[in-house]
Amino acid sequence: MSDSLNLPPAPGSPRVPGVPVRHTRAKGEPRFPDGPKADPAGSHFERRIRSFQPRRSRVTAGQADALQRLWPKWGLDIDGQRVLDLAELFGSSRPVVLEIGFGMGEATAQMAAADPATNVLAVDVHTPGQGNLLALAERHGLTNVRVANGDAIILLREMLTPDSLDGLRVYFPDPWPKKRHHKRRLIQPEFLTLAATRLKPGAVLHCATDWEPYAEQMLEVLTAHPDYENTQPGGGFAARPEFRPLTRFEGQGLVKGHVVNDLLFRRVQHGDQHEGDRRGDRLPTERPGLG
Ligand SMILES: C[S@@+](CC[C@H](N)C(=O)[O-])C[C@H]1O[C@@H](n2cnc3c(N)ncnc32)[C@H](O)[C@@H]1O
Repeated sequence: MSDSLNLPPAPGSPRVPGVPVRHTRAKGEPRFPDGPKADPAGSHFERRIRSFQPRRSRVTAGQADALQRLWPKWGLDIDGQRVLDLAELFGSSRPVVLEIGFGMGEATAQMAAADPATNVLAVDVHTPGQGNLLALAERHGLTNVRVANGDAIILLREMLTPDSLDGLRVYFPDPWPKKRHHKRRLIQPEFLTLAATRLKPGAVLHCATDWEPYAEQMLEVLTAHPDYENTQPGGGFAARPEFRPLTRFEGQGLVKGHVVNDLLFRRVQHGDQHEGDRRGDRLPTERPGLG
């Protein structure tokens, strides 16, 4: 826990004026009493393979303050225990776009500010980023952003209804470059099948990556997937659209000389597909590639 959080002194510790006091949390005491939970889905949806890596995260005083104050208003723990009413969550029935893995949230906030007619549900497990995005939303008066804490797979599978999303953004998902870790990559056929059920027909899945082997894999699985069609008439990668700002992770990749590829694929409505077919679309919890 950072000293800079201005937390009250631990019980019984002498207070020296001007010297920050280290607060030691008792076992089981939440890190942010009114903030995101450490493991919101608990063991209900145990997943063997995860697309993210738990990181030890240092939270700044500003981020901690935002988590404490704004989480009750704009935060959402992914507990997998209820189905979301998105109009109620946002207080409006505007189109909703899901962004998976927003990192520190700068690009998310920029896109939300540029398009106030779209509601953005942004999910990540990274606590400092959640605090950062909440603080950015408040600073820029953004009322169209909600911050979800936990695994996006559980959010999609357990908490979102079929055809509820008007778009899906996956910008610079963890590349998992080692072969033995490829199974942890998010963009795989099983994930695409799940995502397709939550996307409205015509909604666009927008991915970007600076890891070329992963870009090739994304292009291959998306092109082969029957629920998607490439928005590029000739197939292949897209140029970065004007509306996607440079992300923090992307900037780091560009410094290293990485090539960035965008992919924009549309969810296809099959002629013989009825609403009832899609309603029951759920993936088993333990599934290779989705954990
Ligand atoms: C490489 S970072 C990219 C962050 C940001 N999009 C950017 O470009 O700067 C990938 C992020 O995705 C998050 N992530 C990966 N898998 C996730 C999942 N299943 N659910 C929620 N977040 C996930 C990670 O925690 C991490 O913050």
